[in-house]
Amino acid sequence: MVQLVLPNDANTLGNVLGGMVLHWIDLAAAVVAHRHCRTQCVTASIDQVSFEAPIRIGQLAVITGRMTFAGRTSMEIRVDVQNEDLLTGLRRQTSTAYLTFVAIDKKGAPVPVPPLLLETEEERREARAAEARRAERLQKAHHVEREITRR
Ligand SMILES: CC(C)(COP(=O)(O)OP(=O)(O)OC[C@H]1O[C@@H](n2cnc3c(N)ncnc32)[C@H](O)[C@@H]1OP(=O)(O)O)[C@@H](O)C(=O)NCCC(=O)NCCS
Repeated sequence: MVQLVLPNDANTLGNVLGGMVLHWIDLAAAVVAHRHCRTQCVTASIDQVSFEAPIRIGQLAVITGRMTFAGRTSMEIRVDVQNEDLLTGLRRQTSTAYLTFVAIDKKGAPVPVPPLLLETEEERREARAAEARRAERLQKAHHVEREITRR
């Protein structure tokens, strides 16, 4: 996905708003998830995201998504964001995000997703790393759930 950063997308310093970048990240990941499972799906989580360089008004935000792991009903998608200077074509990485989407039926209940074909060593490495991230994520989610029930 490519977005031209316009004044409405930016803060008073002329840098794109973090919330706008999160919106683009969520959209790009949603397209990847939908194309994989061809059913409705929802964002279950977005892992911590940092903004390592600004994207200025007049620059492009180049947002690239790819699936890294498919579980039973969930999918992990990695999204990379770069800024691109239109005059020089130079690009710089600004953010990396990992999102989990869950495929759902009409009642909102999770449904199975197709398996992900891992063809290269890099894809297999990323999938192994995704399993570790998933375990950590679920542990945190259970911890939050326990805290809420305790209150
Ligand atoms: C996401 C959602 C469908 C999960 O429903 P659930 O009843 O908790 O589902 P389950 O416990 O059966 O888990 C289903 C899958 O989701 C994964 N999952 C559940 N909670 C998760 C979380 N917080 N982070 C990452 N993955 C999660 C589980 O690991 C499981 O994956 P698997 O089938 O590949 O093993 C439900 O919580 C929901 O509808 N949330 C709101 C989504 C939404 O509105 N998003 C828009 C932004 S607010």
